[in-house]
Amino acid sequence: MIEVKPITPRLGAEILGADIKQEADFEVVRQAFTDYSVLTIRDQELTPDDQIAFAERFGPINVNRFFKKHETHPKVALVLKEADQAQAIGERWHTDHSYDIEPAMCSILHAIETPPVGGDTVFASMSAAYDALSGKFAEMIDGLSAWHSSRHVFGAVVANSESSKSGRIDNANLATQDALHPVVITHPLSGRKGIYVNPDFTTHIEGWNDEESASVLNYLYEHCAKPDFHCRVSYRPGTVTMWDNRATWHKAINDYAGHRRLMHRITVEGCRLNQ
Ligand code: SIN
Repeated sequence: MIEVKPITPRLGAEILGADIKQEADFEVVRQAFTDYSVLTIRDQELTPDDQIAFAERFGPINVNRFFKKHETHPKVALVLKEADQAQAIGERWHTDHSYDIEPAMCSILHAIETPPVGGDTVFASMSAAYDALSGKFAEMIDGLSAWHSSRHVFGAVVANSESSKSGRIDNANLATQDALHPVVITHPLSGRKGIYVNPDFTTHIEGWNDEESASVLNYLYEHCAKPDFHCRVSYRPGTVTMWDNRATWHKAINDYAGHRRLMHRITVEGCRLNQ
């Protein structure tokens, strides 16, 4: 019997008793994904092929251009921090692939090796954050668009970073894409409105000067970072956590110095986002 237990009233659910290798369990997972945006599914025994098959039930896989790939399964990206490394991948609040014109629908993380404690991921609900804005402020940002870019995160400028030198991040020459998206989107599955700018990849609001743009973006970043809109997921080997990139931000908590953490990550293709 599959149990879907909400993590907070606003975001996230834990799924117990499911086997994501089974097609029969997929409908519950798919519905919970639409309803809760972040799912953590415990105790999965998965090979990379199983994880790929599960991801492909949602749609075609979008292979990340910058992450180190699994040696035999290039559709699987490695999110790795060695015991002697200082930086974790994804420490800043972000939304995966927002620099793409059709940003990835979801990311699916399979925990392979986890620290004894720590190494959680925190998520923020962009629809809860939008709903908490005043009507007049929401009216002001509805209809704006903002630019997103991969250049300053994965491009030449970071070629000397620990992540780049250790080979965890590569292909700086492919960090050439920018994308313009609405600042407020209507979610393609739930139909809810949500904020779609993030501190890592969004560069500026279209048509506004730098000061105007920075002041509104910084206000939105502080607002979305309020714990009221968050849920937090911890891992043990076998945990599968997936999130909807059109409905959430996330950040990796880097609090496990001296321990290795390895996740297998797959991103699934999305679509153009509309206001
Ligand atoms: C990511 O940002 O995709 C990785 C999140 C994590 O490792 O917790």
